[in-house]
Amino acid sequence: MPTFAQRLIDWQASHGRHDLPWLGTTDPYRIWLSEIMLQQTQVVTVIGYYTRFLERLPDLAALAAAPVEEVMALWSGLGYYARARNLHACARTLMLQHGGRFPRDPAALARLPGIGRSTANAIAVFCFAAREPILDGNVKRLLCRYLGIAGFPGASAVESRLWQDAAKLLPSQRVAVYIQAQMDMGATVCTRRQPRCMVCPVAGGCVARRENRVAELPTPRPRKTVPERAASLLILRADNSVLLEIRPPAGIWGGLLSLPELPEGVAVVDYCERQLGVSVSAVAPAPTFTHAFTHFRLRIQPLHCVAKYQPRLAEPALRWVRMDELAQTALPAPIRAILTAIP
Ligand code: ADE
Repeated sequence: MPTFAQRLIDWQASHGRHDLPWLGTTDPYRIWLSEIMLQQTQVVTVIGYYTRFLERLPDLAALAAAPVEEVMALWSGLGYYARARNLHACARTLMLQHGGRFPRDPAALARLPGIGRSTANAIAVFCFAAREPILDGNVKRLLCRYLGIAGFPGASAVESRLWQDAAKLLPSQRVAVYIQAQMDMGATVCTRRQPRCMVCPVAGGCVARRENRVAELPTPRPRKTVPERAASLLILRADNSVLLEIRPPAGIWGGLLSLPELPEGVAVVDYCERQLGVSVSAVAPAPTFTHAFTHFRLRIQPLHCVAKYQPRLAEPALRWVRMDELAQTALPAPIRAILTAIP
């Protein structure tokens, strides 16, 4: 009887994805970049960002030498911006402390900024032919179902059991194909909703399927009600420019440019004059909308304001950005959406 691993390896040859831009290379820079982008973002979204990023910053030395603002701009719209800051920090660490090379040892890789155990193992497998398991969201789902493991897979007890099981299932050869097969199976067959068990190569041995628990595994994250915050954002325009503010490095959208936020209970005109140094002649609220972050929801109230003229700014975090420069500016996706909706 073929093993789980052998069935996945066979499946990969005919049904796996073979056209992704990070396949067919063992260049650690390219593999690392793809794995970081894919940590929280789907393949279809990543492809364009990945290609553009490599055109602009083709190797580790180029990334390390680039200003962090440029890295943020290339990341803008992908979300989870700590990934971009860590990416940049990691490139600089590698240039300064590792002679511009990635270490081959998975444990050494996992000590670098932004690289956890699973990403470290993926890099070691794809670039250095290591024999290590990975455990990203797709693989957790596949293993929880196949082995019938209940409990939220992010919980540490469940996760350490999954690491052990994942190690036991590893083949002795063709590990890279097997790891890619697990990722592709998780993304295309053993999907979160409406999994395609009819075409699954390991359906015969799947505990969840045998026990009719496919829909309930993996166990969802215990529901905490996510808090909702509100923020009024100023779309302050003068001539053909809009006033933007660099977000502080810690907290949401850290390091990106965003619209200035009006503190609660403060009058718009007063705030613009006293805090921003801009005289405003008209204020008009736009419809509110909600943006979901991991730990909270943000109810955004955009406020259109027209400045009488474009004063020089005293506050270093503030800057006027021309509307035709916005495409090259590092903006969070919801802010870009607000600004591109302006006629
Ligand atoms: N998700 C994480 N790594 C991946 C890869 N190498 N291919 C496809 N999806 C992935």
